[in-house]
Amino acid sequence: MQIQENISLKPYNTFGIDVITKYFVSVSNINELKAVLNLKGYPEKLILGGGSNMLLTKDLEALVIHVNIKGIEIVSIDRDYVTVKANAGENWHEFVLWCLDKGFGGIENLALIPGNVGSAPIQNIGAYGVELKDVFVSCEALSIQTNAIESFSKADCDFGYRDSIFKQQSKGKYVITSVTLKLSNNNHKLNIKYGAIASQLDFMKITQPSIVDVSKAVIAIRSSKLPNPKDIGNSGSFFKNPVIPKAQYDDLLNSFNDMPHYPISNDEVKIPAGWLIEKAGFKGKRFGDYGVHKNQALVLVNYGNAKGKDILRLSILIQKTVKRLFDISIDAEVNIL
Ligand code: EPU
Repeated sequence: MQIQENISLKPYNTFGIDVITKYFVSVSNINELKAVLNLKGYPEKLILGGGSNMLLTKDLEALVIHVNIKGIEIVSIDRDYVTVKANAGENWHEFVLWCLDKGFGGIENLALIPGNVGSAPIQNIGAYGVELKDVFVSCEALSIQTNAIESFSKADCDFGYRDSIFKQQSKGKYVITSVTLKLSNNNHKLNIKYGAIASQLDFMKITQPSIVDVSKAVIAIRSSKLPNPKDIGNSGSFFKNPVIPKAQYDDLLNSFNDMPHYPISNDEVKIPAGWLIEKAGFKGKRFGDYGVHKNQALVLVNYGNAKGKDILRLSILIQKTVKRLFDISIDAEVNIL
């Protein structure tokens, strides 16, 4: 473990933004993490996982702590279920593939989500009808204040849509070190309700899908819509889908009769932000080295050497335009630093 100085964070964020941090250290076990958190003399400490949900807009004076704690273990297993514990520094998609290889089901719909295992609970990652909370048992996290490991049950995490206690009251107070999930080892309950999955399986001519088939369908859909951060820098959905009153939606239908929606309750609906941004004319728009992805308007992209500030400015323009056109506020999903 060695503290490095003046390090570019470009390889450590999926947006591929080139900012410099004054101090950088990578930790590969809990003792190293504890030791680093105890170090005095740094103005600020910033925890970095897979860097998949952040937009860096300036150089940092901070000590950036890269959590690189690896390891996956089977905690218990019987005919029907398995409990698996994965450490925070494991890449999420590689963990999904590991589970599929062992025949464990439950997270096949979450294939190809960028980022690391440790970040997954923070925003309760979700895609194609499945959220992390559906299989989540608990996670362990190091308290920055007490330097002790604490365990959080599913109820403790207070999961919501792209939300958890780690984005609310406990924001910035813990470093998640491992996540424990309960997966199926038999009689897998496939979740193929999401329209695009059913049609992709049809297209693949699969009538009796396995968990691996479902993951392949998800990978095919994601690859066709979402840019691979290895090719084009991005942070997945830049915005959350907004929830609005049903009465407002009914009103908007008079002007926009093709507006998609998902019912949330009797009086609230969720509107796909991608649709709003596309209607506002931003889909596929490119401004030099940055822009809005051509296949999914929710995704802002860095084509090469974009500055975080430029992407932030574009995101604000999009928010203002959507507000003006639809009177709907769309919030950023990514953390802006
Ligand atoms: N749509 C458009 N234009 C666009 C994008 C979407 O009109 O440019 C419309 C689609 O036609 C469809 C609706 O919006 O009617 C929903 O689109 P999609 O199924 O692609 O899902 P989404 O609501 O845009 C959410 C998640 C994604 C996740 C997909 C699939 C959020 C903020 N995003 O997107 O998550 O992969 O559902 O479950 O909830 C991520 O978080 O990084 C992410 C990619």
